[in-house]
Amino acid sequence: MISPAMPLSPAALDIPRSGIRDVFDRVERVSDAISLTVGEPSATAALHIVEAACTAARDGRTRYTNVLGIPEYRRAVADYSARVKGLSYDPECEIQAVDGATIGLYLALAAVVSPGDEVIIPSPFFTSYDAEVMLVGGRPVTVALRPENGMRVNAADIEAAITPRTRAVIINSPGNPTGAVTSAAEMARIADVCKRHGIWAIADEVYHPFVFDGNGDAGGAVAPSIAAVPGMKERTIVVESLSKTYAMTGWRIGYLLAPASVIEQTGKIAELMHSSVNSLSQYAGVAALTGPQDHVAAMREDYRAKRRIVLDGLADCPVLRLIRPQGAFYAFVDVRLTGLDSDEFSRRLLEEERVAVVPGEAFGEEGRGFVRLSYAGDADELREGVARLRAFAERVWNPVTGRHSVSYHPVTVMA
Ligand SMILES: Cc1ncc(COP(=O)(O)O)c(C=O)c1O
Repeated sequence: MISPAMPLSPAALDIPRSGIRDVFDRVERVSDAISLTVGEPSATAALHIVEAACTAARDGRTRYTNVLGIPEYRRAVADYSARVKGLSYDPECEIQAVDGATIGLYLALAAVVSPGDEVIIPSPFFTSYDAEVMLVGGRPVTVALRPENGMRVNAADIEAAITPRTRAVIINSPGNPTGAVTSAAEMARIADVCKRHGIWAIADEVYHPFVFDGNGDAGGAVAPSIAAVPGMKERTIVVESLSKTYAMTGWRIGYLLAPASVIEQTGKIAELMHSSVNSLSQYAGVAALTGPQDHVAAMREDYRAKRRIVLDGLADCPVLRLIRPQGAFYAFVDVRLTGLDSDEFSRRLLEEERVAVVPGEAFGEEGRGFVRLSYAGDADELREGVARLRAFAERVWNPVTGRHSVSYHPVTVMA
């Protein structure tokens, strides 16, 4: 055990602990709770994916691989990206296998951010973003996403936050925790801002196949990628993962798409961190990307149906306002009219109704007043959880209880 007197790195001490871990600790203590907190598919990887890993293991394909990944995996990523997103990347030098998007994001930031550089993060945001920026010595600068805009990223707001120190902006669409999807037209406007100011776009697209709503002009089956905007390939790093698309969270497999000059740097750094990505996960990844995609379509349909449970369950609720979820598998709900702050709301909901949701501030200050619920789990539990959530909100809101005196306009579904 390390004695308390032993010095620890100030840089490490400065990294904020993920707020979401506290929530998970809290939920674990309530064994019969309906948890609407999970950020992963309830499905597991399809059999052909598992079999590809088993075959590779049996054949002894278990050695270190090239730090950028086995050629088959990089070719599979290139073909998939061209087929599904219309992106063209050279598997030789513009694609790198990574152990999931979390490390991919770190590598991307480490390759382009110098100490003191600012990185713009639309907020609320996926819990790792600010800490990962700090880990590479950068300064996270949050830009508030606006409920009246459906929490979608907005080019003008990003531009207003740019300073001479701005190095990059993180774009996450479909978004966690908001479920917002940025339209192709807005992506083009954001691209224009990046080009005019010479900043990198770091595009976290891990939820790209899960889009459910017409999002303006996008219309396609997957969320628009900023890398597809003409002139953006050379200033974009796409951070991708097979975690959500193929229900492979524990396999730890993803990839980066970036200019060769970036991949040269991320490859060097990755070499120091892990030598190479788990070979079996790469073979499984080849099977996932090149094999039948019907299980992805089935997951999308499953989420679409569960999203409907949330929309119907909260429809016309006088006290909860739902940001209309367009993608991923999250719903972000404004609880301010209850008169409770989001942390107290979540605590009491767990204690009194045995339903767990994540308070919005776990995703940055701008999430305060909201709670995130995940609809990736069991449909019956979701239906019951949403009903209890609503009943709880309406109970604490009841003016007879004197809980609050805010006047409200019943706008149930925003944007
Ligand atoms: C927006 C976003 N990016 C990245 C990740 C991490 O994905 P991975 O499992 O590939 O590390 C998550 C996981 O929840 C996420 O929600």
